[in-house]
Amino acid sequence: MFLKITNLNKNFETKAGSLAVLKDINIDIEQGEFICAVGASGSGKSTLLRQIAGLDRPTSGDVKIDGKRVTGPGPDRGMVFQHYTLYPWMTVQENAEFGLKMQGVPKKERREQSSYYLSVVGLTDFSKALPSELSGGMKQRAAIARALVSEPKILLMDEPFGALDIHTKEAMHSFMLDLWKRTGITIFMITHDVEEAVFCQIASMPWAHVRVQFAR
Ligand SMILES: Nc1ncnc2c1ncn2[C@@H]1O[C@H](COP(=O)(O)OP(=O)(O)OP(=O)(O)O)[C@@H](O)[C@H]1O
Ligand SMILES: [Mg+2]
Repeated sequence: MFLKITNLNKNFETKAGSLAVLKDINIDIEQGEFICAVGASGSGKSTLLRQIAGLDRPTSGDVKIDGKRVTGPGPDRGMVFQHYTLYPWMTVQENAEFGLKMQGVPKKERREQSSYYLSVVGLTDFSKALPSELSGGMKQRAAIARALVSEPKILLMDEPFGALDIHTKEAMHSFMLDLWKRTGITIFMITHDVEEAVFCQIASMPWAHVRVQFAR
């Protein structure tokens, strides 16, 4: 099993007392799967992704990627966030290669790698543009390139298209399916929008309302 979440619980200690957000979550995702989970607003979707990304620690239970327990963030997991998170003062290419720069990858190499992933998401002509010059869909494609540039084993997506209009959203769904087919990457995408969970085969998932598995 590629992503294995076992008996995961997450409580937040608040002034009003302990808030149990994730209760006994068990999820298995095979390598190369594209899984979409749907949950209502406030059901703990972002909280779950943060545990997988290693940005937060579970109260109990564990998350394993490729048999290895997650104890913090790592380049094996790429994350696309719910809200636009590109740095506004950096060009699209600088944004895309920022993670590699932090990892100490030499400039020539990170230029090559970011150029490749910008071409994968169709933004080669906008590599020198600033995020403010991009449409919402293009901003999220740039964020996807930034997540892919470290060549993660799994792409975690937290309602990445929530802010887009319906036509752009549909275009991004086709784009994601195409990207997944071309790269073979494992994708775990989370949304509150059942409409978003299209192309699907639905199975029950105790945590969320629906578990949707895309057919390659
Ligand atoms: N750091 C925190 N401290 C206390 N409570 C928190 C914290 N983070 C999240 N919560 C609470 O946990 C619950 C789930 O939050 P979360 O952001 O995971 O929901 P979500 O499913 O992503 O919602 P949305 O669809 O609105 O993005 C909410 O009730 C929220 O108030
Ligand atoms: Mg959220």
